Amino acid sequence: MKLPTIIVNFKIYEQAVGDRALALAKIHEKVSNETGASIGIAVTAIDLQKISEAVSIPVFAQHIDPATYGCGTGHVLPALVKEVGAYGTLLNHAECRVEDMILEKSIKMARNLGLFTLVCANTPDKGAELLKFNPDLIAVEPSELIGGEVSVSKADPSIIEKAVNLIGKNRVLVGAGIKTGEDVKIALDLGASGVLLASGVTKAEDPYTVLMDLVSGLK
Ligand code: G3P
Repeated sequence: MKLPTIIVNFKIYEQAVGDRALALAKIHEKVSNETGASIGIAVTAIDLQKISEAVSIPVFAQHIDPATYGCGTGHVLPALVKEVGAYGTLLNHAECRVEDMILEKSIKMARNLGLFTLVCANTPDKGAELLKFNPDLIAVEPSELIGGEVSVSKADPSIIEKAVNLIGKNRVLVGAGIKTGEDVKIALDLGASGVLLASGVTKAEDPYTVLMDLVSGLK
């Protein structure tokens, strides 16, 4: 995946599922095409096929289970995530944490299928610990700032510095409360390779304008 990048997690915000997800995904694609910025999106499993087919930017599942064909009611099957055209998957998001053993299995399965892995951690130390599973990127997001008004960039930039020191360059995204180009710029200046965010875009009245502002922080 081209770095630096902006990944927007649609979560299950009402504005970002179903037909609204498709419209929002198209806006992300438009901004990426107009600016050349690397922008990815993470959508609910129900929308994954429709959106993967409709846009050319990387589309991520929000979660996979380490499941194989057969018995596994309700599980998100990695092979099917690949089959419907997803680029990769988020894993271990604060709202969908899994045990390390499950995480390791999921990362292995994703890698074998050619799915890009973006693994979340709530602290730099936890992020560094997850390096042993060799995910493609690690997103450090302090849980207490998720969905809030103050970004990790402004609340505690030392978290970003520490994450980059412990995890390494070209490996770290940061997230929680990110809303502006300035937030993105602070994160990149401290060595991060991009940001993971949600509400700043999904709840915005004008997601196009917000995305254009976010992208301005990549320069
Ligand atoms: O996955 C992104 C995330 O948890 C941060 O959410 O709303 O604080 O940007 P938000």
